[in-house]
Order: sequence, then structure tokens, then C-alpha cells
Amino acid sequence: MEDKLRLLETKRAEAMLGGGTQRIAKEHAKGKLTARERIHLLLDAGTFEELGMLVSHRTTEFGMDKLQYPGDGVVTGYGKIDGRQVFVFSQDFTVFGGSLSETHAEKICKIMDLAIENKMPLIGLNDSGGARIQEGVRSLGGYADIFYRNTNASGYIPQISAIMGPCAGGAVYSPAITDFTLMVEQSSYMFVTGPNVVKTVTNEEVTSEELGGAQTHASKSGVTHLTAPNDKACIEKIRKLLSYLPQSCHEKTPDIPYVENQEIRENIGNIIPDSPNQPYDIKEVISSLVDEHSFFEIHEKFADNIVVGFARLAGKSIGVVANQPYSLAGVLDVNSSRKAGRFVRTCDCYNIPLLVLVDVPGFLPGTDQEWNGIITNGAKLLYAFSEATVPRISLIVRKAYGGAYDVMNSKHIGADLNYSWPSAEIAVMGAKGASEIIFRKEIAAAENKEAALKEKELQYAREFAHPYKAASRGFIDEVIEPKYTRRKLIRGFRMLENKKRNTLNKKHGNIPL
Ligand code: HXC
Repeated sequence: MEDKLRLLETKRAEAMLGGGTQRIAKEHAKGKLTARERIHLLLDAGTFEELGMLVSHRTTEFGMDKLQYPGDGVVTGYGKIDGRQVFVFSQDFTVFGGSLSETHAEKICKIMDLAIENKMPLIGLNDSGGARIQEGVRSLGGYADIFYRNTNASGYIPQISAIMGPCAGGAVYSPAITDFTLMVEQSSYMFVTGPNVVKTVTNEEVTSEELGGAQTHASKSGVTHLTAPNDKACIEKIRKLLSYLPQSCHEKTPDIPYVENQEIRENIGNIIPDSPNQPYDIKEVISSLVDEHSFFEIHEKFADNIVVGFARLAGKSIGVVANQPYSLAGVLDVNSSRKAGRFVRTCDCYNIPLLVLVDVPGFLPGTDQEWNGIITNGAKLLYAFSEATVPRISLIVRKAYGGAYDVMNSKHIGADLNYSWPSAEIAVMGAKGASEIIFRKEIAAAENKEAALKEKELQYAREFAHPYKAASRGFIDEVIEPKYTRRKLIRGFRMLENKKRNTLNKKHGNIPL
């Protein structure tokens, strides 16, 4: 009942302070909620405190002095999500298309400063036509003030951007600097320049949806991490995402109570096929290892040959990175390296331990990959793992070949615990490829070449296609039975809980961007 009254209050404020009931009706007709309705759904009931409700713009050009809307197209303030304090801004498309004026920017900057000073997450609900055209350079300056603060806050407090309507020009760069971007399907898009400019400059005909809709940014560009079918579902995802994150880089994640039991998973070993080349879904392995229904995938539709996401293990928040044999046999390529590198750095910023599941045949060969910078992009993932100081555990579930063995959180680049299942193969390459190179002369001289190759393959496999050579050097800490894996991981992460790794005293590293 109390919540219903608050919703009525929200609606009244919206009609009074926004662009009017007609414009609100137009937004509702598009399936969109208003700025205040979104805040109402996002925050715990009754916790929102608005700041700057009566601020209005100072523009006089183009008759703007006669068009005054209290709040100037953005609702800002603070409130709670699951009992934890957050700051929020929500742009109001009914006022000048949510465009950003100097005062609109000042309101956002004020809560950004408060969020930084008080070490609390910042959530931006974006719905904006970009820089307010009537204000010229003042609005451009306003954007730069926001970008500067986004960058300053990066890695300090979690920053989440939801794109809930058309976002053009400057409206896309603030989200791009934040930790996570979510988009609402069909009603939101992001682009630096819209379809009309694209047509003028490049003569390409493209719709807004194709150019910068949720599907495009989820699967092609990777600009958005999550999508949702409507505003409500998008807001629910923001709340869920926050449940895995700390309030700031100086805090631990909010863990949930967990009563430990035997933690044995009898059937987990059956997920992996006997043949090393047969595909299977690594998400089944993830779900069998982590707490029930706790896996929350990030970047699901982008570079699906690697899987990343948050989960809980015995109630504690962890980040999972896993090669996906279902797609491109789980190879590392440009996009999967970028995706996983970014995720590893996000987890490292916010004290989230990393679990890495390895089943990787190597890097994807080809001109497309080389010309698109697989060297620099692969190096991003290598760099991200190498510099991460959070607890890091790896498990090789089937194979780890070549450079990808090194990159996927190997002992050599600072992983704390490295496990392997007994059937795993760890080698420079697969038995067939290796035999064709090192036994080329013997195979060429043999009467039955096929039989000779088969024999050499077996010889190579006996020598290298197992985890025991790596274990004998200490590169693998223990070869474990699949069914005991979950227990090992829980104990391992618990042992690493107070891990502190000192880094060199330098300004910052120079990740190969
Ligand atoms: C002022 C704006 C505006 C803007 C929209 N409006 N964008 N007013 N400045 N940037 C106003 C419209 O005039 C209109 O007012 C109302 O908002 C709704 O807009 P519509 O066009 O009717 O809505 P829709 O058809 O849904 O299209 C939305 C849109 C389109 C795609 C966002 O409005 C658009 O293309 N806007 C301009 C986008 C843009 O080029 N922005 C500047 C980018 S430069 P009325 O009164 O008629 O209802 C930039 C530089 C920063 O941002 C760079 C930093 C790196």
C-alpha cells in the first residue's frame, strides 16, 4: 500500500516536473518508463532522496529562456539497493530529448563527486539526444566534466550505465568509460553519429536498430555487456549485478551465508566427452561447480568462444572465465581476448577472486586475426591476468595447448593454485600436428604413411597428452578427480582470502590497448 502511494507520488512529480503528460504518454506508448518510474523500480521502496529537483537551465538563446522545466531533464539523488547506498541519475527524455545542458551536467557531476567521496556505486539511467544543441560549447564542456569524473572513478567505485532510449553523440562516451553497460532491446540505441549522418558521409543505408541497437552492441561490437527485453527487466539486472560487487575498491563483496556440506559432485566428470575434439557446453561445468543458480553471465552474445560472468562459491562472489568448446572449439581470438581481458581487470579492481576453467586448443590462426591485431589483443588478456592480484585459481578440464596454456592463468603468470583433471592434455600442440612436424622425415620414408603417422601420434600422446609432466614440474599443484573439484575450490579460495601481493612502485602499467 505504502509502495503504491509512493508510485502515485512519483507519477505526480513526473507530470509536474517533466515535459508534460502528453510527452509522458508518448514515451509510455514506446514501451518506455519515465525517469522517475525507473528510479522507483531501481531503489528499495521509500529510500530515494532527490537532489536539485528545481534546478533549471540558464540558456537564453533561441527563446530557451521561455522554456523552463524544473530539474532540466535529469533526476539525480541517492537511495538504497538491497539495503546498500547508491547514487543515481535518470535522464528525462520528455525534456529536450534528455539532452545535456550545462546545468544538467552540473547535476550529474554533483552526485558523481558525492559517490566518489563517499565510496558508493554510481548508476546512470541514460536516455539522451546528446549535447543540448542550443547550448553549444557549454554542453560539450558539461560532457567532458562527466567523462573526467567517470575516468577518475574508474576502478574506485562501481559505475553502471543503462541505456534506456536513444543515446547519441556525447551520451555514449560516459557509458563507454563505466564498468558495465546494459541496453533495453528495441527501445534503445547507441551511436556516435546516427543513420542520417552515416548516409551523408558513407552513403550507407542503415536503420538505428542495425547501427546501434541492443543486439548489434551485444553481439557485434561488444559495447554492451547485458541486454533486457524491457525497462523493468533491465533494472532488475542492474540490481542483480550490484549484488556481486562491493561498494568500492576498498571493500569486500557482499557475501551470503552458506552452510558447507560434503560438496561432492558425482556426475561432473561425465560432462566432458572422451574425444578431445568433441564439443560440449562449458556452462554445464560452471553450473555444476558454483552455488546453485548463482552464475550470472556477462557479455553472453559477444565472442561466445569464451564465457565470463559472476557466480557464488560457498556464498562468496567470484568471477569465472572459461573457454567454450561449443564455439570455435574454444580458441582464443581477438574478441574473446578483449572480452576476457576486460572482465579480469574488472574483477581485479573490485576484489573479486577469479576461477579460470581451461579447455583451449590455442590461438585462432589466419590473416583476419593477424591483421586485426591478435598479437596486441591476445597480449591484453595475458597482461590482465599477469597484473591481477586477486586470488586466482585455474582448472584445466581437457586441454591447454601452446601460448594459450600460458595466457589462461597459468602458474607462470601468477596464478595461486593450478589444478587439472586426470584426462587433461598439456602440450605445445595436439598430437597429430606435433607428429607431422617433428616426425616428418620418418613418416615420409615409411611405406604406410598413414599407419606411421598414427603410431607417432600415439607415441607423442603417451609422452605429453596428460597433466603429469606439468605436475612433476609443479606447474600443476594437483591432479584432482572431477567430483572433488568444488570442495578443492572452496578450500582454495578460503585459504587465499587474505592474499596480499605487493606490486612494483610505479605510476601505472601500460596495458597494450
Ligand atoms: C536539443 C534535442 C536534442 C539535442 C533531441 N532533442 N535531441 N534538443 N539538443 N541534442 C529534442 C528534439 O528537438 C525534440 O524536441 C525532442 O528532443 C525529442 O526528439 P525527437 O527527435 O522528436 O525524438 P526521436 O525521434 O525519438 O529521436 C531521438 C534522437 C534525435 C535520435 C535522439 O532527437 C536526434 O538525432 N537528436 C540529435 C542527436 C545529436 O546529434 N546530438 C548531438 C550530438 S553531438 P520537440 O520539442 O520537437 O519535441 C554531441 C557531442 C558530444 O553529443 C561529444 C562528446 C565526445
